[in-house]
Amino acid sequence: MNNFIYQNPVKIVFGKGQIAKLPELIDANKTILMTYGGGSIKKNGVYDQVKKALAGRKLLEFGGIEPNPRYETLMKAAEVCKKEGVSFLLSVGGGSVLDGTKFIALAANYKAGDPWDILAKQATANEAIPLGCIITLPATGSEMNSGFVISRESTKEKLASGNPLVYPLFSILDPETTFTLSKEQTANGIVDAFVHVMEQYMTYPVYTPLQDRQSEAIFLTLIEEAPKVMENPQDYNARAAIMWTATQALNGLIACGVPQDWATHMIGHELTAFYGLDHAKTLAIVLPGILRHQLKNKEKKLLQYGQRVWKINPTKSDATLKAIDKTEKFFRSVGIKTKLSEYGIGKEKFSEIADRFRRRGMRLGEHQAIGSEQVIEILNLCL
Ligand code: NZQ
Ligand code: ZN
Repeated sequence: MNNFIYQNPVKIVFGKGQIAKLPELIDANKTILMTYGGGSIKKNGVYDQVKKALAGRKLLEFGGIEPNPRYETLMKAAEVCKKEGVSFLLSVGGGSVLDGTKFIALAANYKAGDPWDILAKQATANEAIPLGCIITLPATGSEMNSGFVISRESTKEKLASGNPLVYPLFSILDPETTFTLSKEQTANGIVDAFVHVMEQYMTYPVYTPLQDRQSEAIFLTLIEEAPKVMENPQDYNARAAIMWTATQALNGLIACGVPQDWATHMIGHELTAFYGLDHAKTLAIVLPGILRHQLKNKEKKLLQYGQRVWKINPTKSDATLKAIDKTEKFFRSVGIKTKLSEYGIGKEKFSEIADRFRRRGMRLGEHQAIGSEQVIEILNLCL
């Protein structure tokens, strides 16, 4: 097991009706900016619940944060924070609103230059407006981590960063808020959470029996619960199980002491930047390609995964490929396509995408075995 430090300060407030706890969670003297997206919270009653819970508080609003939140929009919110003396940010919505809010929290106080440097140059911001969230889409794990992914429209970039200062102080997870998710968004969330576990599990063994079993528990729970929510969007128990599972998939716990990959996400982010595909849709395409390309490097974990998750006999010669096929079938079972060609995308931009990694001097994967040439090979496997 590799050395690790683990600390996660996020207070999770889980269950029905928990939005009403907001007044206990935010100090009375705060000037609050509620951030949200394109209006889902107004349709499903979450907005009204927040307004009711925070009646009498100094509460401002900033709506219109896009899926794949944009730097250009977020900088406007950062200006509002400065102008209005905002001292608490409350993110209400999916991972995009929350990631955007984390960036706003840092950008509002960033004096060392252009806040885009936080993403492009991984510049460290030393101050942040404290934040909390109500997460309405189980997927990203953003509610219990310090990461954020921001897109810049003008340059077609999508970059990730992180800062311990933007761990939410609290995250409210009310599974009832997820009843209104479309089948498509529900499936996106399931695939995203599944791939988060893959990035932390599907590498090479370093003797982490507990972490492996925790990861496998997440895979199995998603596989078991997915058909239930796809069939019945108002199945509270299944929604609750998926919500907590998605949080566990990226809150640092299963990352303890293990090598990590993240190549699927890095290549996936470029597909979103170039083609505007939803985050999870890019992952469902890239992951099978990477697994097939890195078959030898990942062989031991693929065999373990195949046996424990899909009951595939590891002594059979095609056991690793079968495990990949099963994974792809699972994504397809919730309606997510797994090939670029299914979105009408061909090879045209492959070299431009690969070139971005070359220029950043980035090699991907747990062995840094994926350079720009391999990115093209992998994308060819995704056609
Ligand atoms: O904008 P609104 O109107 O709120 O609608 C959203 C949006 O259109 C809608 N939605 C959210 N909750 C809903 C709902 N509709 C009905 N009922 C509800 N309860 O769903 C749409 C998608 O929302 P979005 O927030 O974009 O989805 P998600 O939570 O999947 O977030 C995706 C973003 O997170 C980043 C991705 O790259 C992407 O930008 N990620 C962040 C990570 C992190 N911080 O750790 C890790 C992930 O790997 C991921 O990269
Ligand atoms: Zn993801």
